[in-house]
Amino acid sequence: MKKIMFVLCIVLILLLVIWLVMKFNKSAAPDNQYNASELDTQITIYDIDDLEKRAAAVIPQGGFDYIYGGADTEQTMRDNVACFENVDIYPRVLTGVNMPDITTSILGIDISLPVIVAPAAAHGLAHVSAEAGSARGAAASGTIMSVSNYASSTLAEIAAAGNGAPQWFQLYLSKDDEFNRQIIKQAEELGYRAIILTVDAPVGGNRIRDVKNDFKFPLALPNVAQKSGPTKGHGIGKIFAAAQNKLTAYDVMRVKRMTNLPVIVKGIQHPDDAEIAIAAGADAIWVSNHGGRQLDGSFCAFDVLSDVARRVNKRVPIIFDSGIRRGTHIFKAIASGADVVAIGRPVIYGLALGGWRGVVSVFDYLKTDLRRVMTLAGAQTIEDIKHIKLRVPQCDCDKDLHLTEKSL
Ligand code: FNR
Ligand code: LAC
Repeated sequence: MKKIMFVLCIVLILLLVIWLVMKFNKSAAPDNQYNASELDTQITIYDIDDLEKRAAAVIPQGGFDYIYGGADTEQTMRDNVACFENVDIYPRVLTGVNMPDITTSILGIDISLPVIVAPAAAHGLAHVSAEAGSARGAAASGTIMSVSNYASSTLAEIAAAGNGAPQWFQLYLSKDDEFNRQIIKQAEELGYRAIILTVDAPVGGNRIRDVKNDFKFPLALPNVAQKSGPTKGHGIGKIFAAAQNKLTAYDVMRVKRMTNLPVIVKGIQHPDDAEIAIAAGADAIWVSNHGGRQLDGSFCAFDVLSDVARRVNKRVPIIFDSGIRRGTHIFKAIASGADVVAIGRPVIYGLALGGWRGVVSVFDYLKTDLRRVMTLAGAQTIEDIKHIKLRVPQCDCDKDLHLTEKSL
């Protein structure tokens, strides 16, 4: 009996040692187990839903769930796409529209279509070229690359990949003001043309997929690592914890004082917040609910856009994101007051499936789709879209469909 107990104890100790070694290895060298895509090809895109399914097959599970996922029930995330159906385009067909011009400009920068790249952390989860790949794709597509300060390429690598193409730097204000100054200065010196101050993430949303996966970044986030030391192996909660979790007009003013670049305030969903940001000096308002990754159970982003636009009343430009997946979405957002829109996940999916060429394919798909929608709806230019009415179909008690105007 004593012998059996002794052998059992030895087996248990061995098991414990094996478990500890495995656990240590996981946090010490997590990138050894993470195989990001190395695909390098143009891709055929039927629509972004299909692209998402194909991306799920090439991005490792934990990384895909982090990119795809939203907060809590993900209802707001799903509604972001669905709520574009709440309004209909009221088309014109006898206006002689032919080969519409989809070029436009924002904050003095000319772009080839009214769609830019939204800032998103850790593109390295999707592809080995990371943000450098996305930046090359954005540059080749003639649009703006927004770069998260949680990027997995350095700001210098991304600037080099953009090769002079327009790029904006997105900041989560650190609790350390010296670091804020230093990273803004670095972005300025590298040629970034605006600072995006994100204000909708004082804490991270409750992303249940990440909790279940015990998701930790398997790669470095080198720009914030300048301040917080190695970030590899940290969860998003720990990364967010280094950021300032109380933001007011004062912080917008502070950032304005740190730079001569335009400051864009991102994450606005309420007209009063837009007013506060503009009074504090914001040069543009970015209407967004972070792709449904923060507060579940809030309005879908498109539903708040026209209220905010009405209050902003063209004092500053408006950028819109959260749920843009096709030409009709771009059209409806611009008709509701946005000057340009941004895409987050679709860029990362294109990157995963084809590297920088895949990113170009995503923008090519949106260019073709937007041109078709403009032709069918009767808008020759982006400016024309702003004058096209959208209508809200409403059912009355007798279930008769009638139309009421949704005008700015
Ligand atoms: C984001 N987003 C984001 N926003 C930001 O200001 N800083 C950031 O670091 C990040 N990180 C991030 C990571 C990932 C994986 C995603 C998907 C998103 C939000 C992003 O800028 C944008 O608001 C949403 O992605 C827009 O929604 P769609 O286009 O993904 O539906
Ligand atoms: C996210 C952060 C980094 O949405 O903004 O994951």
